[in-house]
Amino acid sequence: MKLKLLPLFMLLACGDDGLSVVVEEGQVNFTEVFNVLESRCTPCHNPGKAGGLTWTDAQSAYLTLVTDISASSMCYGKLWVTPGDAKESLLFNKLSMAPVCGNKMPPKADLTPEEAEIIELWINQGAMFIP
Ligand code: HEC
Repeated sequence: MKLKLLPLFMLLACGDDGLSVVVEEGQVNFTEVFNVLESRCTPCHNPGKAGGLTWTDAQSAYLTLVTDISASSMCYGKLWVTPGDAKESLLFNKLSMAPVCGNKMPPKADLTPEEAEIIELWINQGAMFIP
């Protein structure tokens, strides 16, 4: 089990050591982040749906991500995004196989390494709203 999961973990965890740089390390725009959220997360993270945090457009998603803390019982009080630190951010941590709380996201599918890296880079670059 552990061995089988290792390659994905390495892809997610080793973005800054050159092993898995699949996205050019330029500035990541929030539009790119939002496109990932919208295509991979909104089926559940939407007003009235099970996932909690909701977003309807890029601006509301951004504001929610950088100002909200988790209100769920499992992850209560954790910050969705800690600018500059993807590993401390629930948004990125939940993509890993063993998140600090609750289930891996998305629960039944995996993001591509490119999609995960867009989120990781955006947070590590300071989580700014550059459309
Ligand atoms: C199939 C439905 C589904 C999809 C798709 C999904 N989620 Fe979730 N998500 C949930 C549910 C249900 C929870 C609450 C249980 C948990 O935390 O494991 C949750 C919780 C979370 C939490 C913790 C929220 C909190 O307030 O505690 C984060 C962060 C999160 N999801 C991020 C994502 C991201 C990012 C994506 C897309 C890459 C995604 N999810 C895709 C269903 C989903």
